Amino acid sequence: MDHFLYRDGALYAEDVPISEIAAAVGTPFYVYSTATLLRHFQLFDDALEGTDHLVCYAMKAASNQAILRTLAQAGAGMDVVSGGEYLRAKVAGVPGDKIVFSGVGKTADEIRAALTGGIRQFNVESEPEMEVINAVALELGVVAPITVRVNPDVDAKTHAKIATGKSENKFGIPITRASEVYAHAATLPGLEVIGIDVHIGSQLTELEPFELAYTKVAELTEQLRAEGHNIRRLDLGGGLGIPYTRANDAPPLPVEYGALIKKTLGHLGCEIEIEPGRLIAGNAGLMVSKVIYVKSGEGRDFLILDGAMNDLIRPAMYEAYHDIVAVQEPAPGVEQQPYDIVGPVCETGDTFAKQRNMPPLAPGDLVAFRSAGAYGAVMASEYNTRPLIPEVLVHGDQFAVIRERPSFDEIINRDTIPGWL
Ligand code: LLP
Repeated sequence: MDHFLYRDGALYAEDVPISEIAAAVGTPFYVYSTATLLRHFQLFDDALEGTDHLVCYAMKAASNQAILRTLAQAGAGMDVVSGGEYLRAKVAGVPGDKIVFSGVGKTADEIRAALTGGIRQFNVESEPEMEVINAVALELGVVAPITVRVNPDVDAKTHAKIATGKSENKFGIPITRASEVYAHAATLPGLEVIGIDVHIGSQLTELEPFELAYTKVAELTEQLRAEGHNIRRLDLGGGLGIPYTRANDAPPLPVEYGALIKKTLGHLGCEIEIEPGRLIAGNAGLMVSKVIYVKSGEGRDFLILDGAMNDLIRPAMYEAYHDIVAVQEPAPGVEQQPYDIVGPVCETGDTFAKQRNMPPLAPGDLVAFRSAGAYGAVMASEYNTRPLIPEVLVHGDQFAVIRERPSFDEIINRDTIPGWL
C-alpha cells in the first residue's frame, strides 16, 4: 500500500496534488511519501517483533538526506556500501553503532573512516579484505567487529543482474569454505568475529530462496559455534520484492518474511539484522514527467516525455516494468490506446514502455511512474547534459524540495579547462 491515490480526479501524494508540486518545481521530478516510507519500515520492524533485531535500511535504494533522517528518526539503522554512503548516513544523524558496512571492494581509506567514526560491523566479503580491515584496526589501535558474508549458492530466481547468491557471483565467500575463513579470522587480533552475513539478491518474489539460504546459515551457525566461534548476530541482507504491477504480482509480505526468519533461525538466539532497501523506498516514490509531444510513427504512436533513461534507468537496464499513470484521472469508461513511451535521449534504449495502454494524452499532460522510489534518483545521471531532477518529500499536506535541480551553470562549471587550451 502507498499514499499516492486519486482524489477528485487528480493524483495526490498524501494530501498534496501532484500537479501542485509540478507547478512549483517543474518536471520531471521525484516525489516521496513520508507516510509510505515509515509504513514500510514499520512493517519490517513489526515483522521481527519478539526477536532482538535491527532493520538497517539499504540506503543505496534512495539516499537523500531527508529520507535517511525520516527513517533514522523512526529507529532504522543503515546498510552502507561506500565511504560516501557512510558519510551520508552520519550526516543524516545515524549513530555509527547503527551502521553496517557491506560491499565487495571496501578500500583502506573507507575502512579507516568507518573505524574512526564508529561502525556496528563490517560485512567482510573476502580474505584479502579481512586482512586489510585487520591491518587498519591495528594501526588505529581498535578492534573491528565483523561478520563474513557467505555465498550460499542459492538461486534467487530474480533478474540475473541483481542475483547475488550463486557461486558464480562475485559476492561473499563460498559457504563451503566458511569454516576455514572463520578460523583464519579468529587468528587476526584486529578483528572480532561476531556473526554471519548473507544477501542473495534483490526483487525476490518468493520466500523459497530465502528459506534455502537461511537454513544453510542456521546450519553454519551451529557448526561455527561448535568450532569455537561466538556467533551472536546474523545479518540476513535485503531483497524482498515489491509489486511493480498492481494487477498480478504479489510478493510475500514482510510479516511472512519475518515469520520465515523466526522459523529458520529463531532457535539460535542470535540478534537479527535485515537490510531492506527496495521494499521501504520503492513504492514510496514516483517519478513525474510531462508529455512534450505525441508523435505518430509507422503503426504506432510515441509519447515523448521530458523524463528519460538518465532519470530512471531501470527499464533500459533491467527491462524493468513501471506502471505509468496519468496524473489527471481518466474519466470512467474512457478508451485507452497503446503508446510507446519514450524519453528525449538519443538512444533507442531510452524507451520506458512499448505499446502501453494509456488514456489519450496530449502535450502538457503529466504522467507518473509508480514504484520509482528505489533505485530511481540514485541511479540517475546527467547524460545528454540533462540536469539531475529534483527530489521532493511530502509529509501530510506539506511538501519540500529535498534536492534542487542544478542549474546549467553549476553543471558546466564542474568542468575545468587546462591552461594549455
Ligand atoms: N544488502 C545488500 C548487501 C545489497 O547488495 C542490497 C542490494 C540490499 C541489501 C538491498 O536489497 P533490496 O532490499 O533493495 O532488494 N539497481 C537494482 C537493484 C540492485 C540491488 C543491489 N543490492 C534495481 O534497480 O533493481
